[in-house]
Amino acid sequence: MQVAPPLLKAAERLFFYPHYLMDSIPPRSYPDVRDSDSGFVISSPAKVNLRLRVLRKRQDGYHALETVFQELDWADEIEFSPEQVFSLEIRGANLPADERNLMTRAARSLAEASGHELSGKLRLSKNLPLQGGVGGGSSNAAITLLGLNRLWGLNWPVSHLEPIATKMGADCPFFLHGGLASGTNRGDIIEPLKGAVLGAFVLLIPNFGVETAWAFSEVRFPLTEVEKNVIFSPLRISEEGEAYPQIKPCNDLENIVFHRYSGLPHWRDRILELGAQVALMSGSGSTLFGIFESSEIAQCAALELSQERDLRVKVCRAVARER
Ligand code: C5P
Repeated sequence: MQVAPPLLKAAERLFFYPHYLMDSIPPRSYPDVRDSDSGFVISSPAKVNLRLRVLRKRQDGYHALETVFQELDWADEIEFSPEQVFSLEIRGANLPADERNLMTRAARSLAEASGHELSGKLRLSKNLPLQGGVGGGSSNAAITLLGLNRLWGLNWPVSHLEPIATKMGADCPFFLHGGLASGTNRGDIIEPLKGAVLGAFVLLIPNFGVETAWAFSEVRFPLTEVEKNVIFSPLRISEEGEAYPQIKPCNDLENIVFHRYSGLPHWRDRILELGAQVALMSGSGSTLFGIFESSEIAQCAALELSQERDLRVKVCRAVARER
């Protein structure tokens, strides 16, 4: 007897649950800032890649990408306070605060580019996983640029910060914009898009990370045609009436990373079995995410998935930004 693979089962499920959420996601200005006793706090959000196509290897060793980023309402926080000497304090993770830290490197690069003295007391409260594929380090570096731009009164437009962000990593420029955005070139040329993906996200965060450089080093062309193997409808984006690019979810790095970390395809299949419309790895992993049509289904799935060993589970939503 032939057994339908889990991916096809999920596609069939779309047919039985066509009553999609009809909500919208009100856009907010980016980033989220609030006052604190000694200065201000900026959220440093996570992203997922809704789509990640690896097109070719470039002369500089990087890979040409076509990607779509989506900001989530799950974030680290960075407090910025005026202080003559620069310092970085980190809570919630065992990370170096010196030049090995992207935040310190970003601060120094901005000081050099602007001629402003390197100053300010920064306090990072870490919630996001390390080497998790949700962009935590890049997000922290980009928010450092936005925060110091404000703290130092530079008032540079984002376009002036972009070259510094690009030096900090290919994911970093996205976090100067947040929301929904496409990324081309190395993933660092950003086109901000209106709206956000509707539905509820369930993130599975394994207790191991994946090194991005390793995942890309394993890419061999031609890649397996991921899109031909997977039958998924395009994602539903908020803000009806606008002409959106049809985002077809896929991740070209999945086959490579799933081959080495065999727990990941198992968890991906579990997400689909529990009713997700889409289940993917984000970036180079290790985080997986499912998109569910309602919070109720997502919460049930999250409860089931939290029974799995060696995993953290997080339910969150996409964020839309003013464009
Ligand atoms: O840019 P970032 O430092 O985050 O990238 C980490 C590594 O991932 C790079 O050194 C490179 O090996 C690989 N990479 C790539 N092509 C990209 C982005 C990253 O090959 N577009």
